[in-house]
Formats: sequence, structure tokens, C-alpha cells
Amino acid sequence: MSKLFASITGVQGYVPDTVLTNQDLEKMVETSDEWITSRTGIKTRHIFKEEGKATSDMALRAVEGLLAKTGTKPEEVDLLLCATITGDMVFPDTANTVCDKAGIKNAFGFDINAACSGFLYALTTGAKFVESGSHKKVIVIGVDMMSSIIDYTDRTTCIIFGDGGGAVLLEPSAERCGIIDSVFHGDGSGRAYLNMKSGGSLSPTTKESVENKEHFVFQDGRPVFKAAVSGMVGSIKEVLDRNELAIDDIDWLIPHQANMRIINSVGSMLDFPEEKVIVNIQKYGNTTAGTLPLCLSDFEHQFKKGDKILLTAFGGGFTWGTTLIEWAY
Ligand code: UT7
Repeated sequence: MSKLFASITGVQGYVPDTVLTNQDLEKMVETSDEWITSRTGIKTRHIFKEEGKATSDMALRAVEGLLAKTGTKPEEVDLLLCATITGDMVFPDTANTVCDKAGIKNAFGFDINAACSGFLYALTTGAKFVESGSHKKVIVIGVDMMSSIIDYTDRTTCIIFGDGGGAVLLEPSAERCGIIDSVFHGDGSGRAYLNMKSGGSLSPTTKESVENKEHFVFQDGRPVFKAAVSGMVGSIKEVLDRNELAIDDIDWLIPHQANMRIINSVGSMLDFPEEKVIVNIQKYGNTTAGTLPLCLSDFEHQFKKGDKILLTAFGGGFTWGTTLIEWAY
């Protein structure tokens, strides 16, 4: 039997309507549009504010758009993976909630918790099911409602994060396209620098943990910044080397959107032409697992069949890696 490739046959992003601008944040914490813009590149982020709605509802809107756009019936989907760190509940998982809400009845699903690298980890996991021949229509979601775990009195984190995400459909193809190769790494010692302290088994939520704001994101930005640059650059080089590719062979670089200065450092360390680096951080900020599918969705119209695209991410864990894809349509 000839090799099967997991081809991306559609993508759909979703961001909520409510926009939080730098000017809004100036009224909430001691910060300025100038500081946020020059240190992060972010101008606005979107916030999901609908009574009784959560991460699964943002995912649902992306999935419904994806099904419509690709002409896929919900019952045809046989696997759904959801990369998120802000699932509706600690358990059950959000993937199965999305399936229930979308009428996806013939699939199994599970969540992948790898923070900002979650979408890439999930994409490769989903691709393995397609490549093995066991599954034919796999939805991979990357989505986060970061506003649910952000302290809007902490200027070091509230200026960075936003809500949103997207979904892709993976289908088998005999033609070489889709997910070609991935390099992933992890370093659990990085948990000291980026975490949410309470709400897990180490520190179940208590009145004190809430008073100490341990149910919010904590980040020691500088070490994360350095590790993000070296992790993304290193894994990009590994993918290029083992696929015998040079920077010139790559049509687009899609980096996780955490900080414009990180994106610029990665681009310049690799001598990557600026016009080939995909950026939308100014609009959405850092949507954690949502950044990469949102980039795919925003720039889908510019991709051509056969384009070689590198997706790279770094996030809490630490988790990081790079995936090479060839655009299928
Ligand atoms: O997506 C997951 C992975 N996450 C990342 O990749 C994020 C990596 N880190 C970063 O993007 C950056 O470290 C931050 C954007 C979080 C912070 O930028 P920075 O240039 O590293 O700033 P810093 O933490 O070194 O702080 C510099 C100064 C400090 O003041 P002093 O000590 O020099 O007086 C901060 O208190 O800037 C101050 N500061 C602010 N000032 C105005 C920190 N946040 C703000 C703010 N507005 N919002």
C-alpha cells in the first residue's frame, strides 16, 4: 500500500467580537500603548464575553464554519482533537463537549494540554491516525479562552493574552501534501516560569488560593522569552536539516504569536525574509493554542498548492517544536 499523507483540506478561525485595546488597558493597569506596542507588537486582543459560554463554544463556531466550508457532515468526522489549556472544566475534556454540541456522533476525541505548542502537538497526533489509514476525517482544534485565567490587575500578563482559535480538517491523500514532518521537544523544568499554581492536584482550589490569585497565569517573562527564541530556532533548523531543505525552499514561516520581538529574533537568526513571516499578533495578542490555526485561517487566501510552510511554537511546559507542511489546495 502506498504511503498516505494527512492533508489539511480546510481551515476556519474564530475570534469573539469584543475587542480589548491598549487604550482600554491603560485605564485598567499602569501601562501605555507605547510600552505594549514596542515590547510586544500587540494593539488589540479579542475577549469572549457571552453569558454561560466557554472555550467549547468558540471551538464550536470554528468547527461549524469548517464543516460548512469543506462540505463535511458532522457524522462523517471520526476523530476530534482539541488543544487547549482553558477547557470548559478540569474534566471532562472539551473535545467531547464540542462533538456533542456540533452533532459529531461517530467520533472519539480528547484534549491535548501543551499550552502554546498544543495545536502543533495535536496536528501531528491527528496526522498519525490519518496516515495509519484508521481515520479519514479528523478535526484538530487549537483554542483558548485566556481571559478566564488572566488577572486583569497584573500588567505583566493581561496585556499579552487574548481569546480565540481555529480548526483544521485532516483527510488522507495519496499525493505528497499536508503534514510532512515534525520535531518536538519538552522540558518540564520550565514549569517554574509559566504556570497556573492552583486548581490541580498539587494545590486544589481553596479560599486562600483564590485570595492569593493562584488561579491566574503566572509568567516570568524573560527566561520564557530566551527559551522561546532558542527553542523555535533550534527546532526549525532540525526540521530543515532532516528534510534537506534550506530557508530559500520555504514559502512561509508561521511562528507562534507570543511577542513581536520573539518573532523578529527568530526571523533574523535564520535570515528568513520578513515578507514570508506570517504575523497577526497585533490584532489578537497571544491566544495560546489558538495562534497557529488563526494564522492559517487569516492567510489561507495567500497560500498556494505545494507551498512549503513551517509552523513553529513554544509554550508552557516547556513544550516546543516545528512542523513542516505542504499546502494541499
Ligand atoms: O506564549 C507562551 C510563551 N510566552 C512567551 O513567549 C512570552 C515571553 N516573554 C515576553 O514576551 C516578555 O518577557 C514580556 C512581554 C512578558 C515582558 O517584556 P520584557 O521586555 O521581558 O519586560 P520585563 O519583564 O523585563 O520588564 C521590563 C520593565 C519592568 O520594569 P523595571 O523593573 O525595569 O522597572 C516591568 O515592571 O517593564 C515593566 N513592565 C511594564 N511596564 C509597562 C512589565 N509589564 C509592563 C507593562 N507596562 N504592561
